[in-house]
Amino acid sequence: MKEIINYIEQNKERFMNELLDFLRIPSISSVPENKPDVLKAADWLSNNIKSVGINDVTIYPTAGHPIVYAQYLDAGESAQTILVYGHYDVQPVDPLELWDSSPFEPVIKNGKIFARGTADDKGQLFMHIKSVEAWLRTMGKLPVNVKFLVEGEEECGSNNLDIFIEEHAELLKCDTVIVSDTEWFAPGLPSICYSLRGLSYVEVTVTGPNRDLHSGTFGGGVDNPLNVLCWLVSQLKDSYGRITIPRFYDNVLNLTKEERDGFKELPFNLEEYCKDLDVSEVYGENGYTTLERVWARPTLDLNGIVGGYTGEGAKTILPSKATAKISMRLVPHQTHTEISEKITKYLKQLAPPTVKLEVNVLHGGNPILVSRDSDGVKAAIEALKEAFGVNPVFMREGGSIPIVALFDSVLHAPTVLMGMGLPSDNIHSPNENYSIDNFYGGIKASAIFFDKIK
Ligand code: BES
Ligand code: MN
Ligand code: MN
Repeated sequence: MKEIINYIEQNKERFMNELLDFLRIPSISSVPENKPDVLKAADWLSNNIKSVGINDVTIYPTAGHPIVYAQYLDAGESAQTILVYGHYDVQPVDPLELWDSSPFEPVIKNGKIFARGTADDKGQLFMHIKSVEAWLRTMGKLPVNVKFLVEGEEECGSNNLDIFIEEHAELLKCDTVIVSDTEWFAPGLPSICYSLRGLSYVEVTVTGPNRDLHSGTFGGGVDNPLNVLCWLVSQLKDSYGRITIPRFYDNVLNLTKEERDGFKELPFNLEEYCKDLDVSEVYGENGYTTLERVWARPTLDLNGIVGGYTGEGAKTILPSKATAKISMRLVPHQTHTEISEKITKYLKQLAPPTVKLEVNVLHGGNPILVSRDSDGVKAAIEALKEAFGVNPVFMREGGSIPIVALFDSVLHAPTVLMGMGLPSDNIHSPNENYSIDNFYGGIKASAIFFDKIK
């Protein structure tokens, strides 16, 4: 191991420069104008993987953005096979004016790399590629087979990866999946995540009269779709933070006492949490702590609402239609199809006959709960301890990586969520950043992981 760690130390600067090149490519998957950049990122990635000594690299086109797949199988059939999953696409950058430096011109400052996608997920994915390089350049081989599955559509719903995994289950066959796309509980506290929430995202459109109407001439006589939409949204949650959709909680797995006790041991400070967000109090479902609410309880949020006159001053109309975007974060063992059906049915039942209602399911993903004592998790605990000199903690996450559910259901392989992000990384926000120490330490942890799991 010593030689490998030395190699990583000696090549730090080049690793960083390569990552900065990767970060310069604006691979925003949800913006059509960036499609060529997404392609460029896939190409760049494929070339970089080849440059570390893996020859078998394929870019699979999809109906959306391509999937980069690579495999190193020289460890032989009797060795373990590890699948590394990550994504090379990034979130949009707006609001651009709130960035201190340009999102695609990476800047190194205060021990951090600032750029869109640096923590989510280019920097984290890149650690595994460089750890493979360190193994191959020093030992000439790896103790395990390694497959890389890297998609370009995670940030817009992984719409084509589902099919790819189902159609290539044999190609992707593995013993353990490792994903670095989550974060530590706090700086200096390496963490292993064992649960992610799922997601159901719907768009609700209420249509009334065939055109905007004068609110004096028609107001009170014709129903207003924007009023109706707001009322509908208000019917989805009660004042105790509980979701009122019938049978919504049917399949929710309750927290165990052991988990609740575990959460209490984490260094969480409610006062600092509020202060950081500039809110005077937290909110949420009665009977649960903040960590329990965001990690292990489902929730429903209005993400945006559009309708009527939003320009300056007053304009007196009854808008002809209104739309709301609603996301629900789900927990084991809810499924996104079940929940999307339940909300659709409930809204249809509530909607008055004075309007037309349309519910469009935009995307969904199932929640996951992974084992805390798989061989992969055991190897990750050892790797994190050796790389960072600190015992890792277990945590859950409120965010989602919907595709992880398929590693279990289709590939029948346990997943290890060994992320290196920090809560201060500002993922999806202006000034996204990634800790340089976590980047270099993460390369070492990945290299040690391959050794421990063999
Ligand atoms: N890496 C994140 C998931 C995540 C968020 C992990 C926060 C740990 C902490 C991932 O890239 C992401 O943003 N997922 C989306 C999924 C959605 C677009 C289907 C999410 O959670 O909103
Ligand atoms: Mn991510
Ligand atoms: Mn993301």
